Amino acid sequence: MKKGQMQNKNGFFIHDSSYNDKGSKIGKGTKIWHFSHIQGNSIIGENCTLGQNVNVAKNVIIGNNVKIQNNVSVYEGVELEDFVFCGPSMVFTNIKVPRSEFPQRGSKHYMKTLIKKSASIGANATIICGLTVGKYSLIGSGAVVTKNVPNYALVIGNPGRIVGWVDKMGKRIKFDINNVSLCGNFKLTKNTLSEK
Ligand SMILES: CC(C)(COP(=O)(O)OP(=O)(O)OC[C@H]1O[C@@H](n2cnc3c(N)ncnc32)[C@H](O)[C@@H]1OP(=O)(O)O)[C@@H](O)C(=O)NCCC(=O)NCCS
Repeated sequence: MKKGQMQNKNGFFIHDSSYNDKGSKIGKGTKIWHFSHIQGNSIIGENCTLGQNVNVAKNVIIGNNVKIQNNVSVYEGVELEDFVFCGPSMVFTNIKVPRSEFPQRGSKHYMKTLIKKSASIGANATIICGLTVGKYSLIGSGAVVTKNVPNYALVIGNPGRIVGWVDKMGKRIKFDINNVSLCGNFKLTKNTLSEK
């Protein structure tokens, strides 16, 4: 496929094998690859990339420059801010205690999950619903996130635990004995990293 042929008249690209339901909004420069489904009333920003087999549910909001790798369902209640990265086969949820026998259907049942700017979620990680994942945080592959994640935190394991702090590039931050980063840009106080 040649570059010039990729975008449709609305300025985004969606592969022929994917469905785009009525009422969705997709921004310029966004690419949606094979076997994906964009449901009505969802909003996807500009310059995003959605891989193969991605489902974006009704009323979902996705910012600009977001990357969603293969096999991810962004369920209703989830919001992704700009530059969020969702690794392959990572899992969002929107019902905390699901029961087939007692179904909880419809928007009022779905818990909100907010993934803040530039957070990255590793392959096969799970985000339990109702949480906020902080900006620039890094969730290790396979982690199960059960609590809010502070900005710049590095979380791994099951249940997910904070094991360190990362900078905007995702590099580990090292601290001196006063909890000031060696680069001088951050100060750590009681599980909160502030920029100096
Ligand atoms: C298991 C579950 C029901 C527990 O909910 P809860 O009773 O509100 O539990 P809490 O959030 O208060 O957590 C209690 C403890 O269990 C841990 N925990 C909760 N869910 C966990 C999970 N899935 N894996 C590992 N640990 C978990 C928490 O970290 C916390 O640990 P702590 O006591 O050391 O701090 C819920 O977290 C869960 O996993 N729900 C399933 C969601 C899902 O898959 N939905 C699918 C449909 S969208």
